[in-house]
Amino acid sequence: MMMLPVAAAPPADTERRIQELVARMTLDEKIGQMSQSSGWSSPLSDKDHAEIRAGRWGSYLNAGTLQDKIAAQRIALKESRLGIPLLFGRDVIHGYRTVFPIPLGQAASWDPALVEAAARVAAQEAAADGIHWAFAPMVDIARDPRWGRIAEGSGEDPYLGSAMSAAVVHGFQGRALDAPGSIAACVKHYVGYGAAEGGRDYNTAWIPEVLLRNVYLPPFRAARDAGAATFMSAFEALNGVPASGNTFTLRKVLRDEWHFDGFVVSDWNSIAEMIPWGYAADEADAALKGVLGGVDMEMVSTTYYDHLKSLVDAGRIDVRLIDEAVANILRVKFRMGLFDRPVEPAKFAMESPESLETARRLAQESIVLLKNEGAALPLSKSARVAVIGPLADSAVDQMGSWVLDGRPEDVHTPLAAIRALAGDAQVAYAPGLENARDTSHAGFAAAVAAARSADRAVLFLGEDAGLSGEARSRAFLNLPGAQEALIDAIAATGKPVIGVIMAGRPLVFHDAAAKLQAILYAWHPGTMGGPAIAGLLYGEASPSGRLPVSFPRTVGQVPIYYDHMNTGRPPSEAERGVPAGTPINPKGDTSRYVDVDVTPEYPFGYGISYSVVKYENLRVSAPRMSKSGEITVTADLVNTGARDADETAQLYIRQLAASIVRPVRELKGFQRVRIPAGEKRTVRFALRTADLSFWNARGEFVAEPGQFQVWIAPDAEHGLRGEFRLE
Ligand code: NOJ
Repeated sequence: MMMLPVAAAPPADTERRIQELVARMTLDEKIGQMSQSSGWSSPLSDKDHAEIRAGRWGSYLNAGTLQDKIAAQRIALKESRLGIPLLFGRDVIHGYRTVFPIPLGQAASWDPALVEAAARVAAQEAAADGIHWAFAPMVDIARDPRWGRIAEGSGEDPYLGSAMSAAVVHGFQGRALDAPGSIAACVKHYVGYGAAEGGRDYNTAWIPEVLLRNVYLPPFRAARDAGAATFMSAFEALNGVPASGNTFTLRKVLRDEWHFDGFVVSDWNSIAEMIPWGYAADEADAALKGVLGGVDMEMVSTTYYDHLKSLVDAGRIDVRLIDEAVANILRVKFRMGLFDRPVEPAKFAMESPESLETARRLAQESIVLLKNEGAALPLSKSARVAVIGPLADSAVDQMGSWVLDGRPEDVHTPLAAIRALAGDAQVAYAPGLENARDTSHAGFAAAVAAARSADRAVLFLGEDAGLSGEARSRAFLNLPGAQEALIDAIAATGKPVIGVIMAGRPLVFHDAAAKLQAILYAWHPGTMGGPAIAGLLYGEASPSGRLPVSFPRTVGQVPIYYDHMNTGRPPSEAERGVPAGTPINPKGDTSRYVDVDVTPEYPFGYGISYSVVKYENLRVSAPRMSKSGEITVTADLVNTGARDADETAQLYIRQLAASIVRPVRELKGFQRVRIPAGEKRTVRFALRTADLSFWNARGEFVAEPGQFQVWIAPDAEHGLRGEFRLE
């Protein structure tokens, strides 16, 4: 992946300007820079004006209109004593006005270049509205679909997650942070937030250091290497210490090891929340622990604003720590050119045709075909279809969680897109349920009648937007409301039934899946989700998304992820196939369940298309590799079907014995390749020592000599296997 520089001014000059400025600042002005306000009145009140003039806030969260922001920035630059600009931050999570698929869906595209392009669109639209700083990407590894925030990240894998993390940072920050249309990234939630116990948001995470370093930290490191300007500390307590006061992660890893020189903002109120956590006695103690921990700017709570001065006066905080934090914040403001650029932002169109096309393509690439029995898909335009289900025409739900600026009236729904594509006369619409949680069967009769009148039924099922995202943990992962009963009612008509599922997480629909001939998993696909889905349903394109996370058969399997350890008693192939919910009397004592298979319903990396791609002829360039050497692994991908395919070939490795146990597979590369019908493409991957390295129990990142297996595969459970030895 290409690394682009992000510093705007020559570093020496920036550092000199920072030092000069810090030397002239009063303690109150310094604390102002370290405080982010969430209070805002539109238009600005006299109190707001006075506070900005006095330099009491360094940043505003979710500040009002563009005009408000321009007015405020003018006051900060022209009327405050030192002319320090404000930084306007906002949750630009998966698009601004143009809404792209939720991040988990974007990850399912396995297309970092397209994800980068989408982030660029979001940056330009947000920048045109006066926003400087997006609280994204969220790069928390998530292996628990009960956790609602799994929707906001890239799933379970550190390699795929790192690729997506870097892509979003590059998209937001562009070639230069001070270029028109660039905004600062804020990589979050540092770190371990996705490992919250039981999938309960804001909860405890216990992550041993080898796991933290091998799995949870890499996407943050990738963002840092891509030049991410800022980090956000998380809500959870990590190994007993709240992430927003955690000197190990914030000071040792981020600053000392990674040499990060941007700034760290706390998450919303998370400094003050160290009190209920039982880590700080009161607000002053929380401020102290936040600063000592390494959080430069406090979001929402005002413990810094209210207590840092007395802490410094009392000698409890060395003012040098304050100066350091302020310098980190000013460094980002200088790099963004905020001191020198006009207060009026450059103009960019909202929802331009090109942006909408990027959104459509990304939605198309994110959608995963899970099943297609008897080639039920694609549909023929001559077939009459019944469009059924609570999510066929629900703009808000289609956008998903964390949409502050997308407008429902701009959303193209599947119903509208299917009508446009197939013609009104071919479509009968009956939602069956008013919304995804609806338990009433009152609409079933009309839905059944619609199905009877048609050749095929397409059911739009899933979760409404409010069921995933922050504070949306679920203990049941089934299709909510009466959706399963609706499937039964429609299936009973005998018409072929196609399911399109929109959701913010992997859902569990083991039984329902058996009643559907085809399943498209569409996540929450955003503004252009409708045309993307319709295009796939009618075969204008072939599905190409791949799962970025394993789908459990039942909630009881959670956490289930592909790069688990082998155990001392792995179940044999013969022990597979345990039926869900029907306990067996097992023959061997191995690591598995007696009432459900040990494998997921759909594995990581999985996704089919309207074609069949065969993997053939794996070649490993040499049986041995030296520490300074390289091995190449190649395979032929043959499209044996009648349609062009976009196949994502995945490279996995496994080290058979090492100083700590190693996962049964680890993703180390992927390539999305277009293969015309009937043709063959060769994929080639190179592996070097760095790709074989891991953090061991001695705290070293090393490649240990030994035997490796290697796969080129269509998903984490299949593929062609080879071997080599690292000398
Ligand atoms: C809390 C969320 O955890 C975080 O992701 C978000 O960026 C902030 N609130 C700001 O809204």
